Amino acid sequence: MHENFAEVIKPNSAEAELLGAIDFAHLPQHVAVIMDGNGRWARQRGERRIFGHRAGVESVRAIVDTSARLNLKAVTLYAFSTENWKRPKLEIGALMQMLKYYLRTELDEIHRQSIKFQAIGKIEGLDKSVQKQIAVATEKTANNTGTILSVALNYGGRAEIVEACKKAIENLQQNGDSVANLTEADIEANLYTRGLPEVDLMIRTSGEMRISNFLLWQLAYSEIYVTETLFPDFRRREIFEAILDFQKRERRFGGIEKK
Ligand code: IPE
Ligand code: IPE
Ligand code: MG
Repeated sequence: MHENFAEVIKPNSAEAELLGAIDFAHLPQHVAVIMDGNGRWARQRGERRIFGHRAGVESVRAIVDTSARLNLKAVTLYAFSTENWKRPKLEIGALMQMLKYYLRTELDEIHRQSIKFQAIGKIEGLDKSVQKQIAVATEKTANNTGTILSVALNYGGRAEIVEACKKAIENLQQNGDSVANLTEADIEANLYTRGLPEVDLMIRTSGEMRISNFLLWQLAYSEIYVTETLFPDFRRREIFEAILDFQKRERRFGGIEKK
């Protein structure tokens, strides 16, 4: 068994078998996850939606821990969209409380695993106390060289592209250059995800076949994996299954089948 998992996976277990099938030379470099289905998970149990969000925190821990053990370059989690402000105030408040709680209680572990934390999205639009907790986690882990964990908060893909275009055009104008010379690289350099590898694999839980304004630019050639599993039930075994499925895909990037 891979040494990084020896302390958390029992030999000969179903997880060990899945792990054994993974080709470590061809891991996705960057995995992005739309964490969806917390509300339905709670409803199935006759509970309020917040109960589902709370259960989802354990799945976040599993994804972050597994990504670090797999040595992925980057993992990006969609936690709160620009559209999620339409939800009841009580639910939004609970989500923000949970986020702060997660950052406070997990920071030492994240740091120990050499994970570099960052938040992406319109962070200035979040509550001051949330911004503070984000700043603490970002600063503490700034020099870590392991997996880069980006949490998308008050994030919208269209807004990100508009902002990146504005900055890229400003840069051109400051250099006395014409907008006609704007390139894809100029826009990419101004996205929140600048410097991260391409998103190879995008996972969405809860069976919804849509992007919901997530990483619109970055998903151009990502492999997409949708599982019926609701987010609170999405754990290490499912991450392995998603990676194994990814490793079976043939990525052509517009070209033709490799012989
Ligand atoms: C979590 O799942 C996604 C977040 C916005 C935190 P949902 O809260 O969207 O759950 P469903 O889709 O209603 O089941
Ligand atoms: C997408 O889930 C946003 C996050 C996971 C943060 P939603 O539950 O908000 O998406 P829709 O409304 O089903 O498209
Ligand atoms: Mg949802």
